[in-house]
Amino acid sequence: MLFTDVIRAKRDGETLSDEQIRFLVDGLADESLPAEQVSALAMAVFLNGMSFDEAGTLTLEMANSGTVLDWSKEGLDGPVVDKHSTGGVGDKVSFLLAPIAAACGCYVPMISGRGLGHTGGTTDKVESIPGYQSTPDFDTFRRVVKSVGCAVIGQTSDLAPADRRFYAIRDVTGTVESVPLITASILSKKIAAGLEALVMDVKVGSGAFMPTPEKAVELAESIILTARNAGLKTHALITDMNEVLGRSAGNALEIAESIRYLRNEERESRLDEVVMALTAEMLVATGLEDDREKAWERCDEAVTSGRAADHFQRMCAELGGPDDIVDDAAKHLPAAAVVHTVAARGVLESIDTRAVGNAIIELGGGRRKVGETLDLSVGFSDVASIGTSLDDATPLAVVHAASDEDAKRAEQNLLAACTFSDTPPVERSVINEILTG
Ligand code: URA
Repeated sequence: MLFTDVIRAKRDGETLSDEQIRFLVDGLADESLPAEQVSALAMAVFLNGMSFDEAGTLTLEMANSGTVLDWSKEGLDGPVVDKHSTGGVGDKVSFLLAPIAAACGCYVPMISGRGLGHTGGTTDKVESIPGYQSTPDFDTFRRVVKSVGCAVIGQTSDLAPADRRFYAIRDVTGTVESVPLITASILSKKIAAGLEALVMDVKVGSGAFMPTPEKAVELAESIILTARNAGLKTHALITDMNEVLGRSAGNALEIAESIRYLRNEERESRLDEVVMALTAEMLVATGLEDDREKAWERCDEAVTSGRAADHFQRMCAELGGPDDIVDDAAKHLPAAAVVHTVAARGVLESIDTRAVGNAIIELGGGRRKVGETLDLSVGFSDVASIGTSLDDATPLAVVHAASDEDAKRAEQNLLAACTFSDTPPVERSVINEILTG
């Protein structure tokens, strides 16, 4: 088979056969297909779409392109469950939800992705913890999940390797925002992780890949149905991504905020709502709780008691990180050379959140091309939420940059992304909808 024929077929709006999809996945996994051909195919899919069956085949082929984990022999005394987000800016939920769920009796083998387009990646963020092995061997991964209850790692070369390569190419070719490609990318990793249940965080808004509620619901339904066909029970929450989630965006800055959250020192209200709702849904989806309110209370107690922080600390230490990261994050996390406050006046009315993500890429905190090394210290902290009245005492944000010049450019980018008014905007809900299939 010639891959140019596969590209031409999709370019002309045809349905790809199972053999053609298998040829694509094999060529991704063994890297025999060159990036330019994969990019052309990705763009053809982006423009012409894929049927439900094509997306289902792509999902299963990518899931089976490497090792598929089986937890049934591990003798675990709780359900194996995970959450995945479609990607946002300042989305640090994984570092909170995984230890909270573990403290509530779940086992969370979380295989995360790197930054994609304007969104930050959990794998990049976790690598700002010195020594943390983000791609451990399977025995280590299994051991940590079993002993701690959670392990947040990146995609190893063995797990869904076809998606790993496809993801890296889509990241830099403007081909992310495709319902079938996102469905297959997310579910291939989750099926390969051997989960019993999955909770999806489908983001909607200016910082999400799905800008409208209709597109977000389309993606959620595509994921739920494709997962069901593959035997994976999935619930989805549609959550707001019209502003940075929490108070920071940038790799190490988000780990620092996560630790403050787990220490119960600072739980920004929108972030808290998303974390609690998603983690509670994991307890409901797995049958550990049948009532959402009770599940929420149980998750909250895991934070206030310090048990979730303890799980996070143990996970870091067992994966090679420091054994006192929760007690002394500042000692370990990289800090930027320049810290600059961005002042503004008026009520913060709206934020083009994608532009904030792009500003972080310009600071060096995200990739412009495949394989680029990141500056994990840069980004924004103390980001004001929409509706905040800004003045000298309440700035818009603080920029963390490698140089004064970078800081100035980031300040301009951030200010250009925001609108200000005299009156508070209408409040938006953070959780828009819960879909259970
Ligand atoms: N997350 C993924 O893992 N893949 C996508 O394509 C988008 C978000």
